[in-house]
Amino acid sequence: DGFTGPELFGQGVSYTYDDVIFLPGHINFGAHEVDLTSYVTRNIKLRTPLVSSPMDTVTEAGMAVAMAAVGGMGVIHYNNSLEEQLHEVKTAKNHSPGFVVHPVCMQPTATVADVAALKERRGLSSVCITDTGKVGGKLLGMVTTRDWDFVTDLHTPLSEVMTADLETAEYDTITAEKAMQLLKASKRGKLPIVGAGGELLALATRALFREDARMPFGGPASVAPDGRLLVGAAVGTRDADRERVAALRDVGHVDVVVLDSSQGDSTFQVSMVQHIKREHPGLDVICGNVVTSWQARRLIEAGADALRVGMGSGSICTTQEVCAVGRGQATAVYHTARLANSLGVPVIADGGIQNSGNVVKALALGASAVMCGSLFAGTAEAPGDYQSVNGVRVKKYRGMGSLEAMTKGSEVRYHSDTQSLKIAQGVSGTVRDKGSVRRNVPYMVQAVKQGFQDLGAKSIADAWQRLDSGEQRLESRTGAAQAEGGIHDMHSYEKKSW
Ligand code: XMP
Repeated sequence: DGFTGPELFGQGVSYTYDDVIFLPGHINFGAHEVDLTSYVTRNIKLRTPLVSSPMDTVTEAGMAVAMAAVGGMGVIHYNNSLEEQLHEVKTAKNHSPGFVVHPVCMQPTATVADVAALKERRGLSSVCITDTGKVGGKLLGMVTTRDWDFVTDLHTPLSEVMTADLETAEYDTITAEKAMQLLKASKRGKLPIVGAGGELLALATRALFREDARMPFGGPASVAPDGRLLVGAAVGTRDADRERVAALRDVGHVDVVVLDSSQGDSTFQVSMVQHIKREHPGLDVICGNVVTSWQARRLIEAGADALRVGMGSGSICTTQEVCAVGRGQATAVYHTARLANSLGVPVIADGGIQNSGNVVKALALGASAVMCGSLFAGTAEAPGDYQSVNGVRVKKYRGMGSLEAMTKGSEVRYHSDTQSLKIAQGVSGTVRDKGSVRRNVPYMVQAVKQGFQDLGAKSIADAWQRLDSGEQRLESRTGAAQAEGGIHDMHSYEKKSW
């Protein structure tokens, strides 16, 4: 029955995940025994093989912290100034469990209407009141929903409703353990952390401690050798990016950099990876994007510690339509991974992941991890505010090659000459509110483990071995078979994205 990998992928057809289907193997173990631990780069191991994309509507500090908490990794985007990116990297690297990533502050002159709007946009129910309305300003009080939910005049200033009698802790002496003890003893929900002059510096919350304790691995799972969360950051390949890498590494202590390009097989990328390997020993570099084995070989020979694979497969990508170049994602992963894995360099399947089945396919075809944009966009941890469109709660999600994103500076990813006409290779739009990464990723991981159990593979390496030995068989699916494999003949149904 079915075909081997070389038989299916050697026919000159570009397949994507939905085009192929794996035939089941023999089960002699439980899904809980499946181990998805893998190397995302030559030197960095992940317990959960999921990485969030370096996109300005996907990964800033909040997402990077959440991805590390669930055992994956976030790559902070660079569609911003060096200072802004460094701030996000430092915030994520310095994060402790139980602490809010970016505490929201307002001035006492702001009104109840402002907090109500914030609740609607960001889902946040508490705000720190400082004299400047920012972190670093003098702490004057806190406002939670309980302070204003019966207030009828929405113009009431926050100074009239805030709780000023707060228990605080000193920044210099506080630890996560102490913060949790103080919250437990006081039975309060929030603990503002202040500097010597009473300025607000951080905020610990009971809810976050509770959530961290529920993490699949009982606490932050992706921890770097420096004892802090594992965090990645994207950079370009221009001269100024050399300075960026130096700052991200020396000041931000970033663990891995991604050379972010839609077509990575360039002399720019080769010289950038050589530069980083020479100047920053110990810093892992993810190169890409590539879709062929010859591109993969060139970047591996230049020093890549991992390859990002995918061209035009992303949900917001129009590269294949605009430039006629790219490859079906299943075929791209299969071919690049055959070469890269034989040389000990992990492949990260980037883009086009729509569900847990796509993750199973990417990993079983040779990827060590998957990178996702749309899957994580629209979650509470993604940057940006929620808005309501025709009664549906949505968040913005945009391609880094969309005109909107390129206007902010991301055109370098597309080798675009800033002097000439801008050609979009992506779109900008919205995705539904998807809840929280911390809550949802464990479900995704469990579904992937069940997929591996159906394959008869106990680990990612096991799945590769089965495919390469010819034991794992697969087939392509006709359009009708794909339709049959989806939901059909239902009058109505509810489809959850996780
Ligand atoms: P998903 O499908 O997860 O894809 O939303 C995310 C990946 O898509 C790539 N990306 C783009 N590709 N034009 C493109 O051709 C774009 O504007 C664009 N923005 C992001 C990127 O590899 C990301 O990880």
